[in-house]
Amino acid sequence: LGYFTYDPGYGATASCKSDITYIDGNEGILRYRGYPIEQLAENSSFLEVAYLLLYGELPTSDQFAAFDRDITYHTMVHEKVNNFISGFHYNAHPMAILSGVVGSMAAFYHDKLDVNDPEQRDLAAKRLIAKMPTIAAAAYRHYMGWPSAYPRNSLKYSERFLHMMFSVPAEDYEVNPVAAKALDLLFILHADHEQNASTSTVRLVGSTGANPYACTAAGIAALWGPAHGGANEAVLNMLNEIGSVDQVGKYVEKAKDKNDPFRLMGFGHRVYKNFDPRATIIRKACHEVLDDLGQADPLLDLAMELERIALEDDYFVERKLYPNVDFYSGIIYKALGIPTSMFTAMFAIGRTVGWVSQWLEQSATPHRIGRPRQVYTGAGERDYVPIERRN
Ligand code: CMC
Repeated sequence: LGYFTYDPGYGATASCKSDITYIDGNEGILRYRGYPIEQLAENSSFLEVAYLLLYGELPTSDQFAAFDRDITYHTMVHEKVNNFISGFHYNAHPMAILSGVVGSMAAFYHDKLDVNDPEQRDLAAKRLIAKMPTIAAAAYRHYMGWPSAYPRNSLKYSERFLHMMFSVPAEDYEVNPVAAKALDLLFILHADHEQNASTSTVRLVGSTGANPYACTAAGIAALWGPAHGGANEAVLNMLNEIGSVDQVGKYVEKAKDKNDPFRLMGFGHRVYKNFDPRATIIRKACHEVLDDLGQADPLLDLAMELERIALEDDYFVERKLYPNVDFYSGIIYKALGIPTSMFTAMFAIGRTVGWVSQWLEQSATPHRIGRPRQVYTGAGERDYVPIERRN
C-alpha cells in the first residue's frame, strides 16, 4: 500500500489531537474536558456544559452570566430565514430544513466570516448555538402550519425551545419544568462525542477554510443518517413496529440474520464495547420523567425487554453490542410531546455545541487540509476508443 495504511471506516486512525472529550470504550467512560458525564448530567446545565466544551473550564458566575447574555442576545433569526423556511413543502423533514437553513446563515452573516479572526469565530459559534433551537422549532411549526414563534428571552435555553415549539397564539403555554429539565439533560448528553461521523465531517470541511455555517450544515447532513443520529428516530419506529413484548424475540432473531439487513436500532457502537454511559443515564431518566409527568408508556417496557433479551443472547454478547445513546432518548422526547420526525433535530441542537467547539479548536491550531488516500481497485491503463468503434 505504499506509505499509507488501508483503514476502512477509520477504525484505527486518529485524525486529530483534541483536548475536548475523552472516551474509553472498553470501560464505558465519557468525560468532557476531564469531567465525568455522570457528574455533569447530575449537577450542570446545558449552557454551562456548552461553556465548558467551548472554553475548556467551568465558568465562574460572572463568566456564565456574560455567556448566557451573549447566547440569549443571538436567539432571534432574521425574518427572511422564516421566509426561507416557509418555502419548503409542509412535510419536509426537519433535518432537510435544518441543514439547508444553517448553510444559508453564511449568506446572512457574510461580513463576519473571517475564520482567521478569533473574535469572529467566537461570534459565529455563539450564533450557531443560539439560533439552532429557533430554526428547529420553526421547522416544526412550519409542518404544523403555525405562525413562527419569537424566542422568549426571559426563559432558559431548554425552556425557551419548548416554548417556541408548543406555544400557540390562542392559548397560554406554560413550560413544564420537568420537561425542561429532562430536555436539558438530553442536550448535555448529546453535546459532544469526539470524532464521530458528523464531528469528523465538520472538521474535514473546516480544514479547507470553509465558513462555520457551511461546516455545521455538513455536520447536520452527516448526523441525519440512521447509522448515526438518525438512529433515535429509527428506534422509535422500530419499537412501534415490534408493537408488543411477545414480538421482541422475533425481532432479535431478525437482527441476527445476516441475510436480513435489519439491525436493532439503538444497539452497538464503534467505540463502546461496554454500556454506553449516556444510555445508562437516559434509561434512569426515562423512568423518572414518565413518573414525574404521570405518564406510562408501553414502549419503555418493550425497550427494556428488548435490552434484556439482547444482552442475554450470544450474538450480542460476543460482538459486545449494548444499547447506545439513541436507544432510550426517543421515549423521553415522545413523553415531552416531540414528534418522531424531530428526534434527530433534537440531537443536532445538543451536538451543535460539540461541532463548534471542535471547529474552534481546529481553527485555533495549525492544521492541514483533511485529505484521506484510497486503495485504487479499478482498471489498469487502457486506450481511448472512439464512440463508433465501441460495442
Ligand atoms: N444489530 C445487529 N447486529 C449488529 C448491530 C445491530 N444494531 N450493530 C452491529 N452489529 C453486528 C454487525 O452485523 C457486525 O457483525 P459481524 O461481525 O458478524 O459482521 C458486528 O456487529 C460489528 O458491526 P459493525 O457494523 O462492523 O460495527 P461498526 O462499528 O462499523 O458500526 C454502528 C457501529 C453504530 C453503526 C452499528 O452498531 C449499527 O449500525 N447500530 C445500529 C444503528 C445505531 O444505533 N446507531 C447509533 C450509534 S450511537 C449514536 C450516534 O453515533 O449517533
